[in-house]
Amino acid sequence: MNKFFAIIIFLTLVTFTTSFPLSGFTQCTGTFPNEVTSFSFSPNPIIAGQNVTYTISVDNTVTVQHGATFNITTYKQQQVIFNVVSDYCKNLIEGGYECPLEPGNYTFVFSDYMMTTPYDPKNTTIEFDSRTEIANPGDPKTILTCIERKYSVYYP
Ligand SMILES: *[C@@H]1O[C@H](CO)[C@@H](O)[C@H](O)[C@H]1NC(C)=O
Ligand SMILES: *[C@@H]1O[C@H](CO)[C@@H](O)[C@H](O)[C@H]1NC(C)=O
Ligand SMILES: *[C@@H]1O[C@H](CO)[C@@H](O)[C@H](O)[C@H]1NC(C)=O
Ligand SMILES: *[C@@H]1O[C@H](CO)[C@@H](O)[C@H](O)[C@H]1NC(C)=O
Repeated sequence: MNKFFAIIIFLTLVTFTTSFPLSGFTQCTGTFPNEVTSFSFSPNPIIAGQNVTYTISVDNTVTVQHGATFNITTYKQQQVIFNVVSDYCKNLIEGGYECPLEPGNYTFVFSDYMMTTPYDPKNTTIEFDSRTEIANPGDPKTILTCIERKYSVYYP
């Protein structure tokens, strides 16, 4: 009987995850002036030890200033597993733009290496959640953009 339920739950999860747009994202609760209008990445699932190419379009109504931060928090089953805060203007340079970035619609393409650790599982796909905030400097800083997304990483 337990096995039967386990199979039903498993099938429900499979149906749910395949119908959920894996390269999808949602805006965080709240109002942010620079909205992400599209987001995709390749390969999907991401493969540990390989590069991932992200394509992101934003509709900026506010200027991104020097010193803007890019804050990515990654969660696995609701637990924070890491948080990286970097210089957003450096990412923009990689994408062919620079700070200050005036209001407008922009599409950025950039690559990022999906790191591996000695603790990685083998031949397994793991689902993560992440929250990305882009903020202009200041006290308090102004959050310009905030998205949340779910993605899978395959560990070969
Ligand atoms: C990932 O991209 C970087 C920079 O574009 C490149 O130097 C590196 O060789 C790539 N790594 C792999 C595993 O493709
Ligand atoms: C980064 O984002 C997380 C999650 O929203 C938040 O708890 C943390 O305070 C932020 N860090 C910085 C330096 O803004
Ligand atoms: C960006 O595009 C949206 C719709 O695609 C448009 O409403 C908006 O005015 C554009 N923003 C700028 C600054 O051009
Ligand atoms: C990886 O896992 C799948 C199913 O879980 C299995 O069919 C396959 O043989 C495994 N591959 C390797 C190289 O272990």
